[in-house]
Amino acid sequence: MDRVTVVKHPLIEHSLTILRDKDTALEEFRKHSAVVSKILFLEATKDLSLKTKKIETPLIEFDGSEVSEKIILVPVLRAGLAMLFAIQELFPTVLVGLIGLERDEKTAIARQYYQKFPKITVLDKVIIVDPMLATGGSIDDTLEVLKGKGITNISVISVVSAPEGLERVIKKYPQLRIFTAAVDEKLNDVKYIVPGLGDYGDRYFGTDVS
Ligand code: PRP
Ligand code: URA
Repeated sequence: MDRVTVVKHPLIEHSLTILRDKDTALEEFRKHSAVVSKILFLEATKDLSLKTKKIETPLIEFDGSEVSEKIILVPVLRAGLAMLFAIQELFPTVLVGLIGLERDEKTAIARQYYQKFPKITVLDKVIIVDPMLATGGSIDDTLEVLKGKGITNISVISVVSAPEGLERVIKKYPQLRIFTAAVDEKLNDVKYIVPGLGDYGDRYFGTDVS
């Protein structure tokens, strides 16, 4: 699994523990979701290419840098939005393609309900963001859509992954890179990640708050 990077950082360990805690309230969950998302994004974009940008500081001319690659972030709706909000603060000009997928509660098979992408070419780098990689079905479906558009330069960022899901997508997509904060133990009988953190979308958006 050398294409899977488990990103290690004390602040990830700290924030992920708060995310996992069932007693964490909405505001704290959102704050720490942002911390983990940003650290993962920084790690996944460490090798971005730069080009020289000539500017003038208030004192002299200066050769600075700007990102030269076109990056398209693809959040998987709905929970991927949580990561998008945080990443946009780091990289405000990132382009965004959206894909809406929802798992059936009984079968855990995802159904696609939405798709909208900016202009995309084979030269572009795509980063899929979805906080939970469980069976891998949602990521697999997203990768199929991107494959249909000829895109090959793809990374995935997920907060918590299950070994089953990782194996599925790594086997099927030989060029894929995955960045995650944790590879958990297993899936339970309803395909939730264990120990996991429950339903990320429900906890982030407050669907489970009465
Ligand atoms: C969750 C999660 C992932 C997916 C992971 O979404 O946000 O997209 O499940 O599971 P998988 O790897 O087995 O496909 P869900 O379908 O619950 O929708 P939501 O984001 O709207 O809550
Ligand atoms: N989706 C979630 O939000 N959590 C899981 O554990 C699995 C899928």
